Amino acid sequence: MTDQRKSDRASWLQGPSARCNNLPEPVQIPWRLVLLGAPGVGKGTQADLLQQRLRACHLSTGDVFRSAASRPECDQSPAMKAALHYMRRGDLVPDSIVWEMVLERSGCLRCGGGFLLDGFPRTLSQAESLNHLMVNEGLAFSAVLNYQLPLNEIVARLSGRRTCQKCKAVYHLTERPSQIAGRCDQCDGQLFQREDDRPEAIHIRLEAYEMSTAPLIDFYQNLGLLLSIAASGSPEDICARTISALSARQAAASSAS
Ligand code: AP5
Repeated sequence: MTDQRKSDRASWLQGPSARCNNLPEPVQIPWRLVLLGAPGVGKGTQADLLQQRLRACHLSTGDVFRSAASRPECDQSPAMKAALHYMRRGDLVPDSIVWEMVLERSGCLRCGGGFLLDGFPRTLSQAESLNHLMVNEGLAFSAVLNYQLPLNEIVARLSGRRTCQKCKAVYHLTERPSQIAGRCDQCDGQLFQREDDRPEAIHIRLEAYEMSTAPLIDFYQNLGLLLSIAASGSPEDICARTISALSARQAAASSAS
């Protein structure tokens, strides 16, 4: 079933003092998923489609940083200013800054509609901290989705990406163009190219992924949570592939119990 109402994710993007509009309805068994994969593989695009199908909220750490970057400098904490400096270069933000930010927003993990974590965790240390937090909160992951795509296709996706300044919707110059060039189909906001989609930053991000994030594949495999998904084809095809992998996992779990 598709839910067209979309939460504005205010508590996640702005911090716990902000209230979300259009909170997802609580469900009996919420989906609690982590989306893994190299930068540009299409995690954000999938999270958006999955959010419509599964109703769970899209929680992206990159979106938190970009949302802070769009605020005046005087409203940014020293830790956030440091984080944005790392992000613009394409480097990972230090674990301590990321973890403090996630911990402050840990209420979002208890959201009754579930969650789709995108871009977090990204290092073993973040994954271990998150596991402890989930256990302490009495929460369990449904699965970890690992999206896979050849490197040349990843670079082509990153180079052509355009993002809406206002609602953060994601487009691609050739693969997913907006109807009017440079304007968002959903809110008419202006489309821009992310600073970290410059070729130098793309190179640094892919290296950081290989060194720090790829080891999480084994980590989640060992926990029995990993589902690998081919990220080639149209976003809708990939989403259908994801839903069928999740359904198969769910069916296997219920026949085992
Ligand atoms: P983040 O925002 O998480 O970026 P990322 O992981 O690099 O992922 P991207 O957003 O670049 O790509 P995506 O996989 O979501 O692809 P998308 O759907 O947009 O992080 C940014 C930075 O913040 C990091 O570099 C780091 O500095 C910092 N940071 C964040 N979290 C952190 C953490 N936990 N620890 C430390 N630092 C952290 O798709 C890409 C393009 O392809 C789009 O144009 C899209 O339209 C197109 N596309 C998507 N699917 C398809 C398809 N099937 N066919 C054709 N085109 C497609």
